[in-house]
Formats: sequence, structure tokens, C-alpha cells
Amino acid sequence: MLSDDEAAELYDVLNTWGDFPADHFYDALVERAPNVLDVGCGTGGMLHHARDRGHRGRLVGLDPDRAALTRARRRTDVEWWEGTAAALSAEAEFDLVTMTGHAFQCLTADEDLRCSLSAIRRALRPGGRFAFETRHPRAKAWEDWTPAHPVTVSRPRPLRLWHEVESVVGDVVSFTEAVADPEGTVLRVDRAALRFLGPDELDEFLTVAGFVVEERFGDWERGPLTEQSREIVTIASAVRQPQDRAAQAAPAPKP
Ligand SMILES: C[S@@+](CC[C@H](N)C(=O)[O-])C[C@H]1O[C@@H](n2cnc3c(N)ncnc32)[C@H](O)[C@@H]1O
Repeated sequence: MLSDDEAAELYDVLNTWGDFPADHFYDALVERAPNVLDVGCGTGGMLHHARDRGHRGRLVGLDPDRAALTRARRRTDVEWWEGTAAALSAEAEFDLVTMTGHAFQCLTADEDLRCSLSAIRRALRPGGRFAFETRHPRAKAWEDWTPAHPVTVSRPRPLRLWHEVESVVGDVVSFTEAVADPEGTVLRVDRAALRFLGPDELDEFLTVAGFVVEERFGDWERGPLTEQSREIVTIASAVRQPQDRAAQAAPAPKP
């Protein structure tokens, strides 16, 4: 067996923050934002790194995965909230919300996606920014997720890991992630599903939730989105909604 704690450590080994071009893209945004919420923060790598680099503002990480948050909590100068994006109840507290490492693609159902985006918009100050990426469906990244492309690591112990697609239904790809020891004994199999929204559908969801797309890129070097792009990288800004104005204009309740 591979424990949840080991799985969280394995995630960190494979995704050490700072090793990827995407990390530099987000670091630059976080550095300039006084109050940052990282939705789907996982083991907290981005916020740990931000503090290491001297960020002095408010940093909050949110994730429903307890084992990942336990690793994140090794650093106590960041707030860690357990929960999902849809259940987020913050009101106009943040200048920047991020969803990194394709966490956005975990929102596979329309209703969950709508509720998550609305909650993220409410958590932002008007004009605050939501930065995230999603893999472009046209590039069909899942076609490489086969046992023929395994990864080996030496921490938390010598392991081999691979993915296998189970189904592609509409824009949702369901797959397994298997972890085995060097002798080939399978220690753990996890199931997951990711949604691959194209830019037009994505923008419809963003508009309904009260966002305006401010910047759109096809890679981490801020190149344009093209026919060949493998990523859809978005920075959207939160538009003040009529219900926000109504709430602000409402008389204060009597004591
Ligand atoms: C691939 S990991 C990315 C972790 C981290 N952001 C990174 O860049 O390494 C996706 C994360 O999204 C979280 N997640 C899944 N569903 C979520 C939801 N509904 N709301 C918030 N986070 C969610 C998972 O628990 C997981 O930690």
C-alpha cells in the first residue's frame, strides 16, 4: 500500500514548485498582489515559495484534500482552509485568486463549475484577478497518458507511476493513476476525471459568473493562443455585480 501521506509526498517530488515555466508565470502575479487565495493549493508549494521569496501580505491556500493540506501546513505563516471552491464563503477579501497545476480541470460538472466560479468572483475585490490554466482540448494531452509513458522516482521510496485513460465522454476524460514498486507490484490505483473546456465554452462560464477576460495566452511565456497551443492560460477580472451594489447600499441592521 501507498498511504495518502506518501501520495502527497510523491506529488511534491513530481511537482516541486519552481521547476516549471508555469511556476514563474504565477510567481510574478503573486509577488504583486497583497492578498492571495490559491484554490486547489494541494501541498501548498506556490504559497510556501511566495513566503520564502519575501511576500509579506495575506496568503491563503484552499483544498479539499486533507493529506495534501497536512503537508501544506508544515508552514504556519500561511492560512490553510480545508474545502472546495464552491463552498468558499469569502467576500471581497482578495486581490488575486489562482488555480495552478490544472486544478481548474477538476471542476468537471457544470453546476460545480458555476458555483465555484461565482464563489471565486465573490472572494475577489471588484477588479481583482483570477489566474488559471486549462489544457486545450485540441491538443488531446490525454493521448500520452498511457502505461508506455511511466515516471520513476526514488522518494518517498523507489516507485513507478503511470496513467491510463478509462473513458472520454464529451469533454471529460476519466483515467487511473497507478503506483507500483520496482518489482512491479501495484501499491495504489487512484481514479480521477478532468474536464477539457475549449476557449469559447470557458468564456461563457466566466461571463455568467461575472468575470471579464483581461489576458489570454497559449503558453507560459505569454505567447498568443493559437491553433497549436496546448494550454489556455487566462487572467480574468472580477466585475462588480448588481447584488454586490445592493448589499453595499442596504442600510446597516439595527443593533
Ligand atoms: C493537480 S492538483 C494541483 C495542486 C497545486 N495547485 C499545484 O499547482 O501543484 C489539483 C488540486 O485541486 C484540488 N481540488 C479538486 N477539486 C477541487 C475543488 N472542487 N475545489 C478546490 N480544489 C479542488 C485537489 O485536491 C488537488 O489538490
